[in-house]
Amino acid sequence: MTRHLLSIDDLSLDDLDELFRLTDGFVEVGRRRIPKVPALKGRTVVSLFYEDSTRTRLSFETAAKRLTADTMTFSVSTSSVKKGESVRDTVETIEAMGIDAIVVRHASAGVPWQVAQWSSASVINGGDGWHGHPTQALLDSYTIRTHLGSLEGHHIAIVGDIKHSRVARSDVAAFTKLGARVTLVAPGTLLPPSLEGWPVEVSHDLDAVLDEVDVVYLLRMQQERMTEALVPSLEEYTVGYGLTRDRAARLGDHVLIMHPGPMNRGVEIAAEVTDLPNAVILEQVANGVPVRMAVLFWLLGVGPPAVDPEGGE
Ligand code: CP
Repeated sequence: MTRHLLSIDDLSLDDLDELFRLTDGFVEVGRRRIPKVPALKGRTVVSLFYEDSTRTRLSFETAAKRLTADTMTFSVSTSSVKKGESVRDTVETIEAMGIDAIVVRHASAGVPWQVAQWSSASVINGGDGWHGHPTQALLDSYTIRTHLGSLEGHHIAIVGDIKHSRVARSDVAAFTKLGARVTLVAPGTLLPPSLEGWPVEVSHDLDAVLDEVDVVYLLRMQQERMTEALVPSLEEYTVGYGLTRDRAARLGDHVLIMHPGPMNRGVEIAAEVTDLPNAVILEQVANGVPVRMAVLFWLLGVGPPAVDPEGGE
């Protein structure tokens, strides 16, 4: 049966342990002089990105290449999408070339599930609308785990534009599944209309929360998804909810400062705060490669490739 990675909700604790164990191995591969293994030789991984990306697309492509898979990159701006080709026709066209995995990012929630119905390849959700970004949550959890040993019993504040954030939704699912306590910190206008079923606490007072957390996870103000002004001004948002230099100075050295990127320096995080030793933002990016190697290997590591490179059995 074809395996997919569409949502953190689909992963059991055993699955998460297995993915982190695989990641540990691929971190070791990354330290080698030639950081490459033939684990997915003959497999083809496609990046099907209908939305912009730097980190997710490049780290999936790097991960695939380090596993010796072939890669195909699809760019909306230079493809037949510009001539009106539908997602379904695009997927079926790529599929006809013989592929094993599709990493899909789309502005509409649910598109990765549709792609999984139209394709026999493994589908990985690289971000769907406001809904989910499971590999970001895996790399965030892995990063916290490397510093704190585990997430169990640790307190994580997710601060900022929760309403529009697929990262927040996947992180809440992963962090709480792994035993963390999560507090969402935002003005009411930047929270989802209902938090029913979210296993979180909510605060509108960042200063009160900072004294008791192990991780401060900042989110970008996603102005491209806002249809109305949700804060009086970015300056006032920063006064209430930005991790300024003064607020960062109050944090203990052990408190991790995280951000999924891209950052709005000077809005949700002060530029100089990103250089503090406990700011692990580039470590998150670095961990994205071995985590995505683990995901690709977990999905494709067993079973025959779509096209056998040896032409044999
Ligand atoms: N964190 C993240 O998804 O970044 P990109 O949009 O650059 O992929």
